Amino acid sequence: MSEPFELYSRQIDADPFPGYTLLRDKYPCYWSESANLWILSRYDDVVDAATDWQTYSSLKGNLIDEIPGRSGGTLGTTDPPRHDRLRALAQVAFVRRNLEHLALPAVELADAALHEIKDKRQFDFVSEFSSHVTVGTIFQMLGLPERDSTETRNEVVLSISTDKEKRGRNPELDAAFKRLAQFLSDEVSIRRNSPADDLITHLAEAKIDGDRLSDREVVLTTTMFVVAGVESLSSFMSVFALNLAENAAARRKLVKNSKKIPQAIEESLRYNTSAQRFKRTLTRDVTLHGKTMKSGDAVILAYGSANRDERKFNNPEIYDIDRNPKGHLGFGTGKHFCIGNTFARMVADIAMRRLLAVIPDFSVAAPNFEWVSSSNFRSPVKLPLTIEMTN
Ligand code: HEM
Repeated sequence: MSEPFELYSRQIDADPFPGYTLLRDKYPCYWSESANLWILSRYDDVVDAATDWQTYSSLKGNLIDEIPGRSGGTLGTTDPPRHDRLRALAQVAFVRRNLEHLALPAVELADAALHEIKDKRQFDFVSEFSSHVTVGTIFQMLGLPERDSTETRNEVVLSISTDKEKRGRNPELDAAFKRLAQFLSDEVSIRRNSPADDLITHLAEAKIDGDRLSDREVVLTTTMFVVAGVESLSSFMSVFALNLAENAAARRKLVKNSKKIPQAIEESLRYNTSAQRFKRTLTRDVTLHGKTMKSGDAVILAYGSANRDERKFNNPEIYDIDRNPKGHLGFGTGKHFCIGNTFARMVADIAMRRLLAVIPDFSVAAPNFEWVSSSNFRSPVKLPLTIEMTN
């Protein structure tokens, strides 16, 4: 018998929303036999779990198919107090002054990409626009040398992908993550020998309780900025573009009044955030909706489902850029709330503002495009768009 929510299926990669509705209505605390974990899908349950880090621990990692060697070494794989200290150090990257320096590069990267695209009839939003802007800005934020954005995004995508046959990782996926980590490890070594005025140097020299971060911690944290940043942000911009391609009225409103873009970003984060689901591991038994989850069990917090919970949002299945989706979980909540949220909002706003100014009318060129095979993320491999000629 098929399960109501087949985590390792192409169907869930492309469109998890009907499955979420079934879970929320009938199986709010659901044991997935095939994936060997629990899934929480209602808004209140997801928020309770995300804020109770003592019970729902991140120590074994927040990725459902965890990357080997990451546990206990970085933000998504530590609990307080270690997590709090690591986070305070990493937070410096996102203080307003440092973010403001990145606004101009984001404009320039978006404009350079649009210059190449604007006279085409069709283009791939992922490789020709969103990857280019996100890899460029995140590399500048970290102080990294230029690197090919398509190659970098490909490595990032493999790093967070899942092998459906194995219901987990495979050596090819691990090798991609290692290549990325090696590149960043070399950069950390360079900074250890000759410090620069950049985020990697800051992390390499930072101290927690008098101890410097280990090379492993610096490399993992930097690598996670690249992986979490590039994957979540370029995929988010892609699903946002998809929402606007499919909703001409919403798109036209934004073309007319770009001040509404930040609110539309919030609605896309609610409606279909790229970061759909994250994992926790129970430190004690918990009984919920008549089911007992055991200490040591893995539990998925389905943020993407909570964002469509009719108990929290009115008409959640409707994409409405005029709504104020306060309390959405597109960036999670609690101790692990996305550290890159302000940066992501800023870059998405700048990039989409430029895009809509240059290409106000576009539609999806081929509706059945491929989605990345991932147990955590919802991310188009390519998003082919047709540029509609106005006038
Ligand atoms: C729109 C784009 C983005 C979305 C939708 C997103 C979403 C999320 C979510 C839902 C979490 C919580 C994970 C959990 O509960 O375990 C998270 C955490 C995180 N995000 Fe983002 N993110 C985005 C952009 C970024 C960017 C640009 C960066 C870095 C440059 C970043 C870095 C991180 C890191 C390091 C964490 C772990 C934080 C912690 O555990 O304390 N994210 N993100």
